[in-house]
Amino acid sequence: MSLSYAPVPTPEAVETPRQDPASSGISARQFEAPYADALRALATHDWQRIHVPAHQAKAANAPGVASLVGEDALRMDFPMLFSGVDQQTWRLVTPGRTTPIMRAQELAAEAWGASRTWFITNGASGGNHIATAVVKGLGNELVVQRSVHSSVIDGITRVGLTPHFVTGAVDTGLGAAHGVTASQIDEALTAHPTSSAVYIVTPSYFGAVADVAAIAEVAHRHGVPLIVDEAWDPISACIRSCPQTQQDLAPTSLSPARTKPLAHSPSPR
Ligand SMILES: Cc1ncc(COP(=O)(O)O)c(C=O)c1O
Repeated sequence: MSLSYAPVPTPEAVETPRQDPASSGISARQFEAPYADALRALATHDWQRIHVPAHQAKAANAPGVASLVGEDALRMDFPMLFSGVDQQTWRLVTPGRTTPIMRAQELAAEAWGASRTWFITNGASGGNHIATAVVKGLGNELVVQRSVHSSVIDGITRVGLTPHFVTGAVDTGLGAAHGVTASQIDEALTAHPTSSAVYIVTPSYFGAVADVAAIAEVAHRHGVPLIVDEAWDPISACIRSCPQTQQDLAPTSLSPARTKPLAHSPSPR
């Protein structure tokens, strides 16, 4: 019996609209959109859709959703692990091959100044769950900013870590909590030397930015990695002006939709 494979769409088929690189001062490579192009190319094929979600890319099957997001979005609404986007063929292995999502992650790593970037689903909350599980792989305790997002607390609880909380300053006039300082982290790590990581959030919900470089220096001096929940960082327009190269792992949000990057620092530890 011979198996016939679904055709792998050519990403060149449909190009994602983009700015003119020449006028931006940014590397032309950063204007490539391999993942979006592959997704658009996939959507141009007249598939018989026997996959979730059940609307089958037809507005008639989900008129309410189509009126909200448009029929184009329905056409691009594929599950993960599709041939030609996330992997090269329908087989779940791509030895020695670079897929569009892999190329997109490499570009994201370059944009962030990270050694590696992963696109993840389930929001920055998912990133925090992953990062707390990583800490559990390193030990049982961590130093953590008290005002971290509830998803960090969920992750700590789920994997059974013991947190040593550090409370940032509070501006009582503005009613706003700020970040933690390097000297607070130094004190906490000195008081709890069996901690395996430092976990902070910056920018804060109120827009205050912590001194990540100084905190990273303290964490590394104590021999532990620094994890930064920077869910709000992209909207602070820091991507171009201040690449985050000091922390070791950073869940970040790019859009409320399908993918969010998790970036890893390039500095070897
Ligand atoms: C600092 C911080 N981390 C994580 C999250 C969770 O983000 P998401 O809703 O993408 O899971 C939020 C959400 O507001 C947040 O403010």
